[in-house]
Amino acid sequence: MADQAEKLREMVEKKNKENKKRYRVIAFTSGKGGVGKTNMVANIAYLLSSIGKKVVVFDADLGLANIDILLGLKSKYSLIDVVKSGKKLKEIMIKVNDNFQVIPAGSGIEEIANINEPIFSKIKDELIDITKETDILLIDTGAGISRKVTFFLKSSEEIVVITTPEPTALADAYAMLKITSTNYKKDKVSVFVNMAKNKQEAENTFNNLNKICKKFLNKEFKSSGYALIDKNLPAAVKQQKPIAELYPNSAFTISMKKFINNMFKENIKIRENPIARFFASIFGGG
Ligand SMILES: Nc1ncnc2c1ncn2[C@@H]1O[C@H](COP(=O)(O)OP(=O)(O)OP(=O)(O)O)[C@@H](O)[C@H]1O
Ligand SMILES: [Mg+2]
Repeated sequence: MADQAEKLREMVEKKNKENKKRYRVIAFTSGKGGVGKTNMVANIAYLLSSIGKKVVVFDADLGLANIDILLGLKSKYSLIDVVKSGKKLKEIMIKVNDNFQVIPAGSGIEEIANINEPIFSKIKDELIDITKETDILLIDTGAGISRKVTFFLKSSEEIVVITTPEPTALADAYAMLKITSTNYKKDKVSVFVNMAKNKQEAENTFNNLNKICKKFLNKEFKSSGYALIDKNLPAAVKQQKPIAELYPNSAFTISMKKFINNMFKENIKIRENPIARFFASIFGGG
């Protein structure tokens, strides 16, 4: 299975060299669950699509998938149909808009949670096919370090490990970084801190995690940004719409725009609320 994953990664790297076109395959992962992976992926994909990038999101939270629900999508098929009735990945893709498609994984079915080697091989081949018409493939993995997660991590060129400031999330993020650090160059792995109370807490969280990594793994990782607790996010989730669409100037949306500008060298305009910026400068937030 690891072989299949590495083949996919090598293919993408080779194709990038040949075509001079830069495909990006980025996995978003975490040790602990509920840290904000799916919301990040959904909003980053939405924002990238709005600047004309062709984006596909692969919901790799096999067995407990929910990006389709988060985006209010009605899916007739899911990965379950790929596993059980031999459908193609392309046939199960759901269009969010002209530039943004989702491959839904399906939930609560044992077959999908216990996916096996031949199916991984099929997924790999079809993902290679899909990347031909795609600029960016974002993979939303499940939490933890199961075989399913590591397959998708090995398939990706880049990994974003998401944590919150909670000690439990940090301990699990460290475990995740330890695993990825044996397979990846450190510049391919970055850490994103979500749900911080303020900028200071986000920076302390990142620095403390990196100190531990330096001490025990002899490696330091780069930061891919941070996001503060944003009460508009649960509100957007309830409405099953990306926060970036409902609240384009909300703190979480701005953090996702900054992530994109930093990660993809884009220049999405950020209109920060001047009042919020004023208070942030006083209280250390934003
Ligand atoms: N910055 C934030 N501010 C406020 N709430 C947030 C923030 N980030 C995430 N949340 C909330 O946390 C919850 C979990 O988010 P999400 O589903 O994106 O996490 P996940 O890492 O994908 O979880 P799982 O591991 O279960 O797949 C959601 O209900 C979301 O509204
Ligand atoms: Mg999720």
